[in-house]
Amino acid sequence: MELSIPQEVIERLRAASRVTVLTGAGISAESGIPTFREAQIGLWSKYDPTELATPQAFARNPRLVWDWYAYRREMIQAAQPNPAHYALVDLEQHYEHFTLITQNVDGFHWRAGSREIIELHGNLNRVRCFDCGVPAPGWDEEGELPPICALCGGYLRPDVVWFGEGLPEQKLRQAYRAAEQSQVFLSIGTSAAVQPAASLPLISLRSGAFLVEINPEETSLAIIADYWLQGPAGKILPLLLQHIAGEEQASEEDT
Ligand code: OAD
Repeated sequence: MELSIPQEVIERLRAASRVTVLTGAGISAESGIPTFREAQIGLWSKYDPTELATPQAFARNPRLVWDWYAYRREMIQAAQPNPAHYALVDLEQHYEHFTLITQNVDGFHWRAGSREIIELHGNLNRVRCFDCGVPAPGWDEEGELPPICALCGGYLRPDVVWFGEGLPEQKLRQAYRAAEQSQVFLSIGTSAAVQPAASLPLISLRSGAFLVEINPEETSLAIIADYWLQGPAGKILPLLLQHIAGEEQASEEDT
């Protein structure tokens, strides 16, 4: 399928000074990482991720949940950010106000070079204590697992938000503000099904933003967005960037 970007999307992006982006698991799909709702593979296929990613599951069987995250951490470390992550690093350079909000815990945006990231659901490369909540600087994968908190003796857990847990309030406030203030909002690679992140594109739309969804599959956002760009983020974002950067180059040459 030949991908092309509608002219109105290019013009809106060129004219904007405030752009907010929300990413989900789909942006890491082209790095070879299965999305959250895709069937899990191998040993983990018999588990439902929504049942492993809960405080109750960790309390019941800390080692099982720890091992699941260790498996995902290894898979992510062996993979690389893809052209979609890199395109967002470059896109940011074109705006005075650019906010990147991610639901992903994989750290690929950071590895690609983005620095101002609101990680709404945490990051699986960090850990904190399940009991006292204090972050730990690291752990020994060869030692007792899950590792033990040096302060209180509780188990260390991944520093991610699990089902049934609240999101970090300050980050959520920042994300709402960025959604409200954006002129263009890009929702990329998310099923837009998990609250409160799923409300961000709606908030931006209500506040007058131009909403663009990038996803190969139709989601509930596709009909309310100004445009649904159907296709993989790793192809669409670099193309989008080419159009935006191309225009700036052309106007520099004119002057
Ligand atoms: P999902 O797994 O629900 O959705 C992934 C989305 O990415 C789907 O809509 C796919 O169609 C789309 N997709 C697949 N390949 C793509 C590609 N190459 N380019 C663009 N899009 C592609 O993942 P999320 O929406 O991120 O939360 O899930 C949100 C949250 O649900 C996760 O952060 C997780 C889970 O609950 C927690 O763990 C707290």
